[in-house]
Amino acid sequence: MEKKPFYITTPIYYPSDKLHIGHSYTTVAADAIARYKRMKGYDVYFLTGSDEHGQKIERKAKERGITPKQYVDEIVASFQSLWRLMDISNDGFVRTTDDYHVKAVQKIFKKLYDQGDIYKSTYSGYYCTPCESHWLERQLVNGCCPDCGRPVEIVEEESYFFRTSKYAPQLIEHIKTHPEFIQPASRANEMLNNFLLPGLEDLCVSRTTFKWGIPVDFDDKHVVYVWLDALSNYITKLGFMSDDDSMYKKFWPADIHLVGKEIVRFHTIVWPIMLMALGQPLPKQVFGHGWLVLDGGKMSKSKGNVVDPVKLVERYGVDAIRYFLLREIPFGADGVFSNEALVTRINSDLANDLGNLLSRTVAMIDKYFGGYIPEHNEYVPDEDDVILSLAKNLPNAVEENMNALRLPECLQEIWKLIGALNKYIDITAPWVLAKDEAKKARLGTVLYNLAEGLRFAAVLIQPFLTRTAPKMFEQLGIADDGLKTIDSLEFGKLPVGTKVVKGEAMFPRIDVKKELDELEKLFPTHVEEKKEEKKEEKKPAKEESKSAETIEFDDFAKLDLRLAKITACELVKKSDHLLKLTCDVGGETRTILSGIRDFYSPEEMVGKTVVIVANLKPRKMCGMLSEGMVLAVDNVGDKLSVLTTDKDMESGLKVR
Ligand code: MSP
Repeated sequence: MEKKPFYITTPIYYPSDKLHIGHSYTTVAADAIARYKRMKGYDVYFLTGSDEHGQKIERKAKERGITPKQYVDEIVASFQSLWRLMDISNDGFVRTTDDYHVKAVQKIFKKLYDQGDIYKSTYSGYYCTPCESHWLERQLVNGCCPDCGRPVEIVEEESYFFRTSKYAPQLIEHIKTHPEFIQPASRANEMLNNFLLPGLEDLCVSRTTFKWGIPVDFDDKHVVYVWLDALSNYITKLGFMSDDDSMYKKFWPADIHLVGKEIVRFHTIVWPIMLMALGQPLPKQVFGHGWLVLDGGKMSKSKGNVVDPVKLVERYGVDAIRYFLLREIPFGADGVFSNEALVTRINSDLANDLGNLLSRTVAMIDKYFGGYIPEHNEYVPDEDDVILSLAKNLPNAVEENMNALRLPECLQEIWKLIGALNKYIDITAPWVLAKDEAKKARLGTVLYNLAEGLRFAAVLIQPFLTRTAPKMFEQLGIADDGLKTIDSLEFGKLPVGTKVVKGEAMFPRIDVKKELDELEKLFPTHVEEKKEEKKEEKKPAKEESKSAETIEFDDFAKLDLRLAKITACELVKKSDHLLKLTCDVGGETRTILSGIRDFYSPEEMVGKTVVIVANLKPRKMCGMLSEGMVLAVDNVGDKLSVLTTDKDMESGLKVR
């Protein structure tokens, strides 16, 4: 019988930085799913890759005096070796600089242009002439260039636009009628309420200010917008619009696009609209997972809080790290990485629960039965039933959780059996049975059940712990591949007489205190990166030195800071980052445009009392007059918080 196809993808990674342990999460999770589906008999295609174009890469390469291609080649090679190190079983690796990809993206762009879904217009943004840099509203510091602090101008640039607005009603309908399309469901509501229902703006899909991108072949002053280029990877790798599209025919639509929560918007709005315009089916599911966070924030190089996956794997082995990622992070929500959490998991779940169970079982079979799996014919329902029923239900429990992509729950189910087997040793006390020759048959049954229970665990952990399962099979003496499949999970199939093989401890116990001290020294990158961060971030340093200068009270008094209550809020259609706030300032109504849209939805803003600079000269942005500025704290990265009061205070009051 022909196998059913199953297509799963991860996002393609930016080669602008080295990957950290947070990045490995998407890939390890997708790998576990892909491996499980292969075990279930699907014909799996698992795709990952690299997203290699854009201005940032062009700049970084220039800084190093090499070509962008030389720059990306080096980093992409490091991605590929990381994936090999982490046992990622991807079937394909797509690079957006690959020839087939470039050609297909050009064809996609041309087709959309020919059919009138892409049109030429003008784009407006901010430009710092002395620095020759383009900036987004949110990147400006006090409305000025974040590099040199000088005022910026609004510029207009000829660009191509994608008529996304045309397809919005069709997409809204699709999301509403296909609840499985965006998962977890909360992310679907976010997309509808924050982006689609308020009205979608056409998307600017070409740039003329840098060269490192896919040229629009009929107008090569322009390069294709990176997201249009990047999203296409999911079909270009399958041969879409090429001479051989057999893979496309077989695997599209994708079963799962697994992506981090911050890029759900591109995958559930831009990407489906591109596919609709191309007349192609939509992916069956986009799953937005949460972040691996450290000290309350997302790991990022600019924050200097990255953890190097290579160092972790070298120290603890691939499986310990895979286990930690898959077990510790609630699927769909954020999870916290800490050295302590990692070491504790390794010690308790892997070394104690699993490792010990296997070595004790094998040692007892060796000691009491000369190393051969014994007969099992003295059954004691009170003691044995719990093991038999947990084992019997385990494949279904894992299947159910896997279908909902609840990966930690899959492991929890397996560990329920492992926990029960440990308890079973305590209850049955084989060493006591061994003292009485009359109890030999019972002793044999107990040890058989332990070994067979361990086989169940080994079979089902194969997709998650790629190195541990083979070690378990080896120690249990199971060489026959037929006994390693999910179909073989019928209790009692482990052949009596199998010769077990004593082996080394799979996860040596860790001295927590000593280890935590050493871990502090293990990541000297923290220190280096922080230094580097200082080097790179000349701008905030400048800001700091500016703010270190003292000012006269009169200077401060020039600022009219006031409390403003937000009475209404909406997205600014012509901008990606602005919110239009209607504020009540002591009875006066003002409109303020603020670049906080990446951090707050309109609904979140309504009702808040914020601090504004009330005497800032009004400024026209996107055709609207902004009468003031909302004060906010931001870490020049991915966190921003508007200033409010911690007691209920009337709007219009002066802040001093
Ligand atoms: N290039 C885009 C994706 C284009 S897909 C058409 C991109 N690349 S990325 O390198 O920045 O991120 C790749 C993946 O790593 C994303 O799914 C992202 O969410 C994930 N992670 C990066 N840091 C992460 C954590 N700290 N925790 C969990 N996943 C995170 O986005």
